[in-house]
Amino acid sequence: MSPDDVAKTSQTGGLEMWDDAEYQRQLALFVRCSTEKGIELVKVGEVIAGIRHRRRFLDIGAGGGDLTIPISQSFAETSVVEPNEKQAAFFKRRCPHFTVYNDFWEKVDLGSKRFDFILCSHVLYYIEEGKWLTAIDRMYTHLEDGGCIAIVLQSPIGQVADFFNEFTRYDVNILELWHDLIQRYGDDVIEVRYFMNEIYTESLEDMVTIGLFLLLDQRFKQFESEIRQYFETHHKVAGGYCFTQDEILLVAKKA
Ligand SMILES: C[S@@+](CC[C@H](N)C(=O)[O-])C[C@H]1O[C@@H](n2cnc3c(N)ncnc32)[C@H](O)[C@@H]1O
Repeated sequence: MSPDDVAKTSQTGGLEMWDDAEYQRQLALFVRCSTEKGIELVKVGEVIAGIRHRRRFLDIGAGGGDLTIPISQSFAETSVVEPNEKQAAFFKRRCPHFTVYNDFWEKVDLGSKRFDFILCSHVLYYIEEGKWLTAIDRMYTHLEDGGCIAIVLQSPIGQVADFFNEFTRYDVNILELWHDLIQRYGDDVIEVRYFMNEIYTESLEDMVTIGLFLLLDQRFKQFESEIRQYFETHHKVAGGYCFTQDEILLVAKKA
């Protein structure tokens, strides 16, 4: 199978996920080596400053809790939707006061619950692109008046996007998504922000693990030596390996 074949099947919803433990290991390494979560917390904090109430927070695809746990401190109640069994179990142990749904966003039953703030950070890639608007509509249904949704996505330009395009395709049409959201909810409630962060590792091995994590589909493991070569050629710096990640924060408010 060529990188292109893997790309084609994973982009039509046939993503082959890593097993839970390996995924957790990759995510923890990524969080340790990237400035991303710190910068994201600042950006999300600016969004939270504008919402009417801080009663209920919902984190969709909460992962290792690097955003969930600090953000939860600003809200009276926190709920988490997380399909990864190990990560959901972690939340139940670490944060017994959270309501944890071990399920996929597309399937989870939240009844009539509504939230003041809904975060969906780096999760939409796991949902087929054609179903993104339906997924965002579900979020909007569960949003309180005066609240907002924050969606964080990898930008289609920049060094991480160049890496993607070497092995797969990352041609998410952010402009179209932005346009569709404005058409659906109105231009006065949709905002977009852009930010950048840096991924730094001392070893090539760690950068390759992060590269595989970013590519999502475990079948890219068979191209490990090409990925190694790519980082060696493009991202070697004195003392390690470094590349920048460009991200987009889409905010949808409910008046
Ligand atoms: C890249 S991690 C992001 C974690 C966290 N939101 C952050 O930004 O640090 C993606 C998370 O989304 C979860 N996930 C994957 N598919 C999902 C789905 N359909 N619905 C909800 N969560 C999903 C994964 O289990 C994983 O924990």
